[in-house]
Amino acid sequence: MAIIKTTDKDWLDFQSAVKELKEYFLSLSARKGRALTYNVLTYGCQLNESDSEKLSGMLSAMGLIPSSGGELDDADVILFNTCSIRENADRHLFGNLGVFKTLKKKDPDVIIAVCGCMMKVPENVAKIKKSYPYVDLVFDPQQLHRLPLLLRDSIRSKKQLVNIAADDYIAEDSFFPIDRKRKFRALVPIMYGCNNFCTYCIVPYARGRERSRDFGEIVRELEDLASKGYKEVMLLGQNVNSYKGEDGKTFADILRAASDFEEFSRVRFMSSHPKDISDEVIDIMATRPNVEKHLHLAMQSGSDRILKAMNRPYTISRFLEIADTFRSRVEGGSLTTDIIVGFPGETEEDFQQTLRAVEKAKFDAAFTFQYSARPGTKAAAFEDQIPADIVTDRFGRLTEYTNRYAEESNSRLAGKTMEVLIEGISKAGDMTFSGRTITNHLVNFTIPEELGIDPGPDNLEGRLCEVRIDRARPYSVDGVLVSLRGA
Ligand code: 5AD
Ligand code: SF4
Repeated sequence: MAIIKTTDKDWLDFQSAVKELKEYFLSLSARKGRALTYNVLTYGCQLNESDSEKLSGMLSAMGLIPSSGGELDDADVILFNTCSIRENADRHLFGNLGVFKTLKKKDPDVIIAVCGCMMKVPENVAKIKKSYPYVDLVFDPQQLHRLPLLLRDSIRSKKQLVNIAADDYIAEDSFFPIDRKRKFRALVPIMYGCNNFCTYCIVPYARGRERSRDFGEIVRELEDLASKGYKEVMLLGQNVNSYKGEDGKTFADILRAASDFEEFSRVRFMSSHPKDISDEVIDIMATRPNVEKHLHLAMQSGSDRILKAMNRPYTISRFLEIADTFRSRVEGGSLTTDIIVGFPGETEEDFQQTLRAVEKAKFDAAFTFQYSARPGTKAAAFEDQIPADIVTDRFGRLTEYTNRYAEESNSRLAGKTMEVLIEGISKAGDMTFSGRTITNHLVNFTIPEELGIDPGPDNLEGRLCEVRIDRARPYSVDGVLVSLRGA
């Protein structure tokens, strides 16, 4: 498997395919007497969200406009960006593909395409070929930059086109038109893929080998984002701390470069692997005011035996040592994690060790997962798979623990006035606003009328404010806005 950097020729081919598709869609639109739309359905993690911003950017460049965006919203181009980690992802995809069959029958010009991590699992591709012949195009996440070429070929041939690459490409973000979903937050991938091969995980197969973007390109992108008014950047990678740029540049160099832009109120990053996180990065978090005081460090298990079987090269005492370093250096910082229960061979004693580790680390929040075998991974072939009822029982007991510490973490904020970056109207839809502290705590707040603040998203999104926190909930805190910063 080779790592291939895109060249100027790829860029020229890209542009010429976009141009041809634009003409095609323009004539189709004239024929139908209406504007043509696209719907990109995104499942899974922030890397997928970032990919979808590029997919949307490319479709916009072809002259299409976004549909209203519901999950089953009709559109002229429907693109599924799939995930193979999250529960039930496959049921979701195949269920939804079934729904669009009627649409395709009614209007053969509709294009249905599927990409994302699930397409690197041969069984899924075989199923589409066999049972979903009306899907026009199937491609994998490594070939995002080839969407225009593949779409053009599929329209020309009028046959199902399946193109799964054997190579890992690295296309710089500057290559793409990007439709960023949020006005104030920019997702900035700094590296792609993963070399760790944790035995339960499909990502190294789905996303290929680790490859880092050019340091210079990343800084240029940050410069551009700062000049366009973005307030928050989220540096993304499966394993950001193993970033390796030209001239020995490390993740610490990127974090410093990003935080040098005063325009950014928040510099965030995801994810860190315990084997790679450095004291230098923790120091940057401690000393730079606009770098978030939040570290997401996946523990996965509290048992050394299970960590070894997972191919996670650290012991639980080393993990807790890093947690201690973070807590002692980054005052008030929050530590979050991922934990899997029911990994093959996990005994009650192993599970108890996980509970004890949670007690010691006192995670501010935890994403908990029930182990599920992913075809193609090593652990899927392990013999001692744990019965579902035991997994469910352990999961329930674990979440009771993790919720307790999450609530405690939120309770510590009660009574304080904290700086919050406003994200928008809260999901409750009742004129409660939401935002995050620099420790990534979610804050829902109201705005007293007497302050005379325009509550419109254009005025509020991306701005910093002070919120007095008066109540803690399990996953968030409630408060009242005290003052709004700057214009
Ligand atoms: N089963 C359960 N959880 C998984 N994760 C990854 N693969 C699996 C799997 N096969 C979890 C890990 C990872 C998070 C993103 O998803 O905890 O950190
Ligand atoms: Fe998967 Fe492990 Fe890589 Fe994370 S570090 S993406 S869990 S293989």
